[in-house]
Amino acid sequence: MDELPQELWRRLLLRSPADAGVPLYGPLVAPAGHRDGCFVVARAAQSLDGYIATRDGESYWISGKEDIAHTHRLRALCDAVIVGSGTVRADNPQLTTREVEGPNPVRVVLDTERRLDPTFRVFGEGPETLLLCAPDTGGPLTCGRAHVVPVRRGPAGLDIGAIIATLAERGLRRIMVEGGGITVTNFLQAGALDRLHVTVAPLLMGGGIPAFALPPVSRLSEGRRFGWTTHRLGADLLLDIPLVRRQ
Ligand SMILES: NC(=O)c1ccc[n+]([C@@H]2O[C@H](COP(=O)([O-])OP(=O)(O)OC[C@H]3O[C@@H](n4cnc5c(N)ncnc54)[C@H](OP(=O)(O)O)[C@@H]3O)[C@@H](O)[C@H]2O)c1
Repeated sequence: MDELPQELWRRLLLRSPADAGVPLYGPLVAPAGHRDGCFVVARAAQSLDGYIATRDGESYWISGKEDIAHTHRLRALCDAVIVGSGTVRADNPQLTTREVEGPNPVRVVLDTERRLDPTFRVFGEGPETLLLCAPDTGGPLTCGRAHVVPVRRGPAGLDIGAIIATLAERGLRRIMVEGGGITVTNFLQAGALDRLHVTVAPLLMGGGIPAFALPPVSRLSEGRRFGWTTHRLGADLLLDIPLVRRQ
């Protein structure tokens, strides 16, 4: 940890490596363990009963301001932030770094069939944006101010290995998967995550969009069990889950 460049520590907003954020953010800025040099972290903020949004798609705000700052800090530390088309439709997010000091990541939207229109904010003013679509969708090379980048199809939407390779070719190696549930789940199921940050808020919703969209197991032994460390973020609890990326 002591060898980390000063610039990265500045971006972490830490005064010294002894600060409490080191265990949480240190792995994100350490040299990547995978041979492709990429590091992929996903995050989600969920209710106590496991939902990331209401059925109508409202997710602002499940977690508190400390977790929102945490999300912006992840953006500042990453070269690229990925969201699925469902999140763009529901939230019309900007995906910029505003709540902490630090640079904006390149914004990356997954839209297999190229159904999103250019009026969404992510395609307007702001940092560079890439719209990833299947190669056979055709159309102009831009969507608003975003560059359209073809990526081959996978078993569900765009191929996740190809998404990571496409970003790596552009020098975008610290990759944050911001949501929503389908996107995070597909990265997790594809073995494409190095780290998963799940913030649990003390809120019961009774129903909504699940954090993880997985087929149910019939036996507990078939479920995936994780190790984690916990971090208090205001009233919320952040679960920091280390994973081993396969692709
Ligand atoms: N609480 C939180 O932390 C949080 C964070 C973000 C979003 N949200 C909420 O989550 C909701 C949206 O989540 P969602 O799960 O419905 O959708 P989503 O993950 O945002 O988007 C999923 C869509 O992305 C496209 N896609 C393309 N390639 C994909 C791939 N490889 N893997 C996954 N998706 C791929 C697919 O649409 P096409 O087939 O059209 O390409 C897919 O249906 C919104 O209500 C938003 O407010 C909550």
